Amino acid sequence: MGSTEKGEKKGSDPCLVLKDLSIDFGGLRAVDGVNLTIEQGERRVLMGPNGAGKTTLFNLISGIYPPSRGRIFYFGKEISRYPIYRRAALGIARTYQVTNLFRCLTVAENILMACQALDRRKFVMFRPLSSYHCHMDRCDDVLQEFDLWEKRNELVKNLSHGDQRRIEVAMALAEKPRLLLLDEPAAGLSSAETQDLTVLLKKLDPSITIVLIEHDLDVAFEFAERITVLYQGQFLTEGTKEEIRNNATVQEIYLGAE
Ligand SMILES: Nc1ncnc2c1ncn2[C@@H]1O[C@H](COP(=O)(O)OP(=O)(O)O)[C@@H](O)[C@H]1O
Ligand SMILES: [Mg+2]
Repeated sequence: MGSTEKGEKKGSDPCLVLKDLSIDFGGLRAVDGVNLTIEQGERRVLMGPNGAGKTTLFNLISGIYPPSRGRIFYFGKEISRYPIYRRAALGIARTYQVTNLFRCLTVAENILMACQALDRRKFVMFRPLSSYHCHMDRCDDVLQEFDLWEKRNELVKNLSHGDQRRIEVAMALAEKPRLLLLDEPAAGLSSAETQDLTVLLKKLDPSITIVLIEHDLDVAFEFAERITVLYQGQFLTEGTKEEIRNNATVQEIYLGAE
């Protein structure tokens, strides 16, 4: 179903369009009337102070919560009410702000699970292992691409935080996404690890649209063509590196607070 639906998309539509998107948690409007357009293949950074609604926006796009108001279009198709699995089948993948790995499995086992996650056949007892070879080949490719081959048989819990973050990105990529949402993948990394991750992100297939939530200005400015700033659930501003760097309000509410 996934590939068929992926094939239906019109080529000229933006990858993602958010129209007047809002969500209320009780009395709190965590995302408040956000409009956003992200073109296919674009790299976009989402910034904003803690509590600005960045992660909640990802939760709305990936389908964890339905919006209270507004609409989400993905390559021209409205997906506002699609469940998570259907959005994943359409090629929307994400990582989480807090590490979300199977810590007692090996690196390869984690990646293999991501490779087969979208296979409608899933895992069936008594099916010969050979019928899963396409996933194993994909898993091997991902391990090589992310420089994890040497560590493939190590338990995830024994690896550094930097390696774990890299595995999360690798797992999201194993799903062959068209839209990749990365929620603070550099959080908690050393500056050397952050630099390695940035190099890796910049090498990803340019046809994949990537939205990155990132607090580190150097990483953000190295990665993105355009930066969108959220504040108190609302769209504050959007622009090039220079425009964002020179925006007085951004400096006041965000950069000044760092
Ligand atoms: N499931 C939830 N229930 C209630 N409040 C939530 C929930 N998720 C997020 N929030 C609130 O929404 C606001 C935005 O949170 P979040 O999107 O995590 O911000 P950011 O990622 O920009 O730091 C915060 O005030 C947070 O406490
Ligand atoms: Mg967050």
